[in-house]
Amino acid sequence: MTMKLRKAVFPAAGLGTRFLPATKAQPKEMLPVVDKPIIQYGVEEAMASGCDQIIIITGRGKQAIEDHFDVSYELEKMLEERHKLDLLKIVRSISDMIYLAYVRQKEALGLGHAVLMARELVGNEPFAVLLADDVIDSRVPALKQMVEVFNQKQCSVIAAQVVEGKMISSYGVLDAQPAQGYGGRLFEIRNMVEKPKPEEAPSNLAVIGRYILTPTVFECLAKTPAGAGGELQLTDGMRMLLKQEKMYAYVYEGRRYDTGDKLGFLKATVEFALKRDDLGGPFREYLKGLKL
Ligand code: UTP
Repeated sequence: MTMKLRKAVFPAAGLGTRFLPATKAQPKEMLPVVDKPIIQYGVEEAMASGCDQIIIITGRGKQAIEDHFDVSYELEKMLEERHKLDLLKIVRSISDMIYLAYVRQKEALGLGHAVLMARELVGNEPFAVLLADDVIDSRVPALKQMVEVFNQKQCSVIAAQVVEGKMISSYGVLDAQPAQGYGGRLFEIRNMVEKPKPEEAPSNLAVIGRYILTPTVFECLAKTPAGAGGELQLTDGMRMLLKQEKMYAYVYEGRRYDTGDKLGFLKATVEFALKRDDLGGPFREYLKGLKL
């Protein structure tokens, strides 16, 4: 029987320390790029890629995420009474979006641990993991590009990006060999290492926050011992998965912004604003006037 992707998991229980103090009392997933919280970009991407069930892993202080995707009765009533119908449509479209479920990760024990929290809700089927921080601007949604590979290969597919130079040591890095087809964008993974020294990196292929995984990864994560700081790493679980199943990396077409990092967030804000029909013109004029 062919496997079909329906479920998407958003680990959102991290502490967001790179974005303090903004993230002291609000989730980083709710920081807006222009006027949309970063997690909404990811949820829209998952929906556009065929997922109809979204599972968000939350923790303490993350209530705003649930409220964002819920009905806001008072706000809707007020907008209706004041005949602000355009705004009402925007607000309703978010709560009407999709089936969402939430699971609490009681302690931030790592990305692998966060993914394992989704085991009961995902069950025995493939699922996507999207790290909302990685906002990807692309013609075809990045996850959708990966779904095409998954539908054909029927095994785990993770997103990769070419990263040149020393920056590679900030990522999970792949040891992989080119696979047939897909215009040279597909690689069969042999191994992966988390944040290697630049001279020890097995390639320039970095792992990015989009994964399509088979449910076998849950068994692997459950058996994986916690690493440094008591954290369970997704990379360690995937390395165990590699011993049992084939895994592919796909170098997606698109531009990624690391919005969990202040500079990445600023870049995304500027570029997304410039692309907007309602803001692009005046914003471009404003930027041109800055004496840089
Ligand atoms: P990050 O490495 O970006 O960590 O986590 P973070 O805590 O969110 O942010 P910084 O680095 O301190 O600024 C990658 C993803 O994994 C989730 C995060 O929410 C983020 O989406 N995560 C991480 C969890 O859900 N639980 C964890 O225990 C750790």
